[in-house]
Parts: sequence; structure tokens; C-alpha cells
Amino acid sequence: MRVGVLTGGGDCPGLNAVIRAVVRKGVKDHGFEFLGFRDGWRGPLEGLTMPLGIEQCRGILPRGGTILGSSRTNPFAVEGGVERIRENLAAAGVDALVAIGGEDTLGVATKLADLGVAVVGVPKTIDNDLSGTDFTFGFDTAVNIATEAIDRLHTTAESHHRVLVVEVMGRHAGWIALHAGIAGGASAVLIPEAPFDIDAVCAHVETRFRSEYAPIIVVSEGAVPADGTGMTLVSGEKDAFGHVRLGGIGDRLAHEIEQRTGTEARAVVLGHVQRGGTPTAFDRWLATRFGLQAIDAVAEGDFGVMVALRGTDIVRVPLIEGTGELKLVSPKEYAEAQVFFG
Ligand code: F6P
Repeated sequence: MRVGVLTGGGDCPGLNAVIRAVVRKGVKDHGFEFLGFRDGWRGPLEGLTMPLGIEQCRGILPRGGTILGSSRTNPFAVEGGVERIRENLAAAGVDALVAIGGEDTLGVATKLADLGVAVVGVPKTIDNDLSGTDFTFGFDTAVNIATEAIDRLHTTAESHHRVLVVEVMGRHAGWIALHAGIAGGASAVLIPEAPFDIDAVCAHVETRFRSEYAPIIVVSEGAVPADGTGMTLVSGEKDAFGHVRLGGIGDRLAHEIEQRTGTEARAVVLGHVQRGGTPTAFDRWLATRFGLQAIDAVAEGDFGVMVALRGTDIVRVPLIEGTGELKLVSPKEYAEAQVFFG
């Protein structure tokens, strides 16, 4: 059997670990051949391929990014896209696909599986917002990077008696902000799931200053002010999946806090630093186990599924379970963090 592998959407640490596990087990246990598709769905759409075998996977376990490249290409937004994918897979002699991606990439995989393409999904995203799995790989690395940044920012904020606002990734879900905010002892954590009240944020800032500490406010890029506070934050630019390009809430918030409290406030945007570099041991472990399970699914002809972590087990669930609905922070989980605000 010839198996195609692709990585789509925003990259994240651990992608290479999945590719390595898929190929190693696929060659050694199942006798498969592999073909790499470049740059997400653009690969099968435009016939962009690269050789993929054990040799290409040597040394990639600890490397961030993806040796296959990535893109946010959506074949369903391209006229005749699905037909072109079918033709290119047939021309390359590819019998099955392993698609490694988040909501958008696996959303495409779900639709292609419904149309009869033999595909197995592997969930990735630093945002950890895919349903059906307890965690996605990449998230733990991002949380550790954000936590280290918060730890460092505490000391400089205290030296200068200023507020530091840390903007982290998280378009729809505040998982990174929540976990890093709890781990880093933030004065407030603002997430997309719970529109914030700027007056309450300023009250937390003032409380923290009263005890000689400097406040650190952690905010997800997708966090929004509650109605009536008069803050706007989007650029209006959209990608191929219709997502608005976010960013800017950190600066807006710092400006607002400074105006309202009279204390200096600065913003630090962590941005793509959270997605780069070497994966944590947990992410390497999870990505590797996902890869092993995904290639077993291919070997068993179990298509239209996604691998997932449930407790400590790696299981398979229908692709739609992972892509149908986003996994968001619940009010109960958010309330746990709120105990430490102020
Ligand atoms: O989906 C992962 C993610 O890192 C989000 O947290 C973020 O909103 C988005 O990708 C940024 O995408 P890009 O790098 O394409 O701007």
C-alpha cells in the first residue's frame, strides 16, 4: 500500500514526531510505502510531493515545524478542487492519506472521507480546541513557552511598577491563556469564552498593586470586551477558511488600563514564538502515540476516523467528533482560575 501524509493549518511542535511514527511503524510493521504531500491540502490539490521514508525521518523527533510544510489551502474553496485531489492521488498511486491538522484541515478530511477518500486524521493544534480528544499535541509546548514568559515578566513588571499584558494565541478558545495564566500566577486571565468587563480588570490591577506586586494580565488573542465597554479589535482581513486575522487586543487593553488606572501598562504579544521550536517531552510522547495509532487504522482499513487521547489511552473516533464542534473552556473551569484574580 502507498500512503500519503500531509500537515495542514498552523504548524505546531510535534508534527514531525507524528510523521516519524507513522512512517517508522508503517514501513517496519506493515510494509507500506510513503509519499509526502507538501504544504497541507495544497499538496494533493496541485500534485506537490516529496519522498518520504525512514531516511527522511531521521533526527526529526525533537524538531519543531513540519518537514512537509503547511498551508491553510481549502480545496473546497477551489473550483474542481476535490476532483483534482482524486486525480492527483490516483496519479501518484496513493491508496490512503494520513492528514495531520486542526479544525480546518480535519474538516476537509471529514468531507473527503464522506466522498469516499480513504483518510485517517491526526488532531494537532496549540489551541487544544478540538473535541473528541483530551489534548492535542503542541498545546503543552505552547503553555510552557507562555508560562516561562509570564515568569520572566513578573520580575521586570515589579521592578518598574507597571502592568504587563501578555497576549497569547487562542482564536476561539482560551486554553493556552487559562493554563499558562494559572501556572504563571496571573492577576487576571481573559478568554474568548467569557467577554470581559474592563472595570473589573482595572480593579484587579489596583488590588495587585496594593500588595506591592505588579499585575500580569494574560489575554487570549480572541478575547472580547463585554458589550458597552466600547473597545474594538479586529483587522477585518480573512484567510481561506473565513477566519478573521486576530491580534491587537493586548495593546488595546494596555492602553485602556493605563487610561483608566493612571499606571503605566505595556503589552507583550507572544505570537508565533508559541508555535516554534522543540516540542516538550509530553508533546513528543503524544504525537508519537498518535502516529502509531493512525497508521494502524490505515492498515486495518479503518478510514474516516481521527486518533484521540482519552485518559491515557489512544483511541479512534469518527472524524466528525473532532471537527463538529470546538472544545471550549467551560464556566466551571474558568471559575477555578478566577479565585486568583486581583
Ligand atoms: O490555530 C492555531 C493558531 O496558532 C491560532 O492560535 C492562531 O489564531 C492562528 O493559528 C494564527 O494563524 P497564522 O499563523 O496563520 O496567522
